[in-house]
Amino acid sequence: MRKICQDGRREDDLNRETGGPDLLIRNVHVATMADTGEAYGVVRDGLVAVAGRRITWVGAARAVPREVAAGAGHILDGEGGWLTPGLIDCHTHLVFAGTRAGEFEMRLRGMTYEAIARAGGGIRSTVAATRTATEEQLCDASEWRMKALAAHGVTTVEIKSGYGLDVDTELRMLRVARTLGERLAVRVSRTLLAAHALPPEYQDRREAYLDLVCGTVVARAAAENLVHAVDAFCEGIAFTPAECARVFDAAVAHRLPVRLHADQLSPFGGAELAARYRARSADHLEYATDAGCRALAAAGTTAVLLPGAYYTLGESHRPPVDALRRHGVRIAVATDLNPGSSPVTSPLLAMNMACVLFGLTPEEALAGMTRQAAPVLGLEGEVGVVSPGACADLALWDVDHPSELSYWIGANPCRAVVRGGEVHDHPGTR
Ligand code: NIG
Ligand code: FE
Repeated sequence: MRKICQDGRREDDLNRETGGPDLLIRNVHVATMADTGEAYGVVRDGLVAVAGRRITWVGAARAVPREVAAGAGHILDGEGGWLTPGLIDCHTHLVFAGTRAGEFEMRLRGMTYEAIARAGGGIRSTVAATRTATEEQLCDASEWRMKALAAHGVTTVEIKSGYGLDVDTELRMLRVARTLGERLAVRVSRTLLAAHALPPEYQDRREAYLDLVCGTVVARAAAENLVHAVDAFCEGIAFTPAECARVFDAAVAHRLPVRLHADQLSPFGGAELAARYRARSADHLEYATDAGCRALAAAGTTAVLLPGAYYTLGESHRPPVDALRRHGVRIAVATDLNPGSSPVTSPLLAMNMACVLFGLTPEEALAGMTRQAAPVLGLEGEVGVVSPGACADLALWDVDHPSELSYWIGANPCRAVVRGGEVHDHPGTR
């Protein structure tokens, strides 16, 4: 596939009288990522029909019934490329002000992430910058990051708060996340992460901060319809399992699903806690134990692997991928896009790192950013697969095989995306 039509659509043979599909995607191989037993759920020489926002038909072009293909409103010619579900980045912190490039240099000189955090830097330094930014400034500062993800085939992105750590700024971050989704026509799932770090003004009053989070922040975010889930950072430099459990109780009281930053820097009982609350996900998991993995499997909690943070922090303790597989835990992959531990703006780079650093197969990595990521956001069946009935969120790639999405480093073979049935061109740079 070399070139799609100028505006991403081609209006051949427009005969709307026949009531055909709104969009027909032809001349593509399809990695449906549906759980068919076939690698990548492949349909070679495929065709996809879309009506409105939904996929109505997927199959081999030679088998397409006449009435499915006739009279299409628009035709997207894939020119022999590969069509996949739009990518889902199910763990990001992409709304923030400032950068932490200075800390990057400190780490290169030998200071650890934990030591920087304990000295008052780390998350707290981004909190200071974010608190002073207006809603508009935060939007403007964050927009390019979301555009970068979208240009790499991302059609659904989760965005966490967690750099406000006070009522106003936490809610402001969530509003910015909502605005960015509307502005760029990308589906955004918003997560409250007020339990990300202890803010400086609560330095010696942990209980009082947790009272604020559990009593006010969760309630306000829920009442203003700003939040789809609640997350917490369960770690020595953040909150204990008992403290995170308090936050989870508040979430449950507002009927909000929970997720957890678990066992990233030390074995801290995070996976077990996530499982106890049937969390949607337990994320990071570098130090998760075998018992923790077993608990995740029993709870149906997805393991979200974040190789960008592992790479950036120069970690050497890999998450227990074999145990996750053995116990049958669903594995997702995400960028963890954030200013401190993972300034990664490419989902394809996260997939490459998941393969090279954690030993996932390219198919597992792509599944981790499609089918396996959807349930983390409560969107199973809606996005993450190319199947009839699912939302027409798709990505078209200039590759000869879907394994190439994990293989190239620093390339972007994304040629177009379809979001809710709408085609958008992207200038891939393969
Ligand atoms: O997922 N682990 C905690 N939170 C982020 C890092 C946030 C930061 O350093 O700013 C993460 O890696
Ligand atoms: Fe994170």
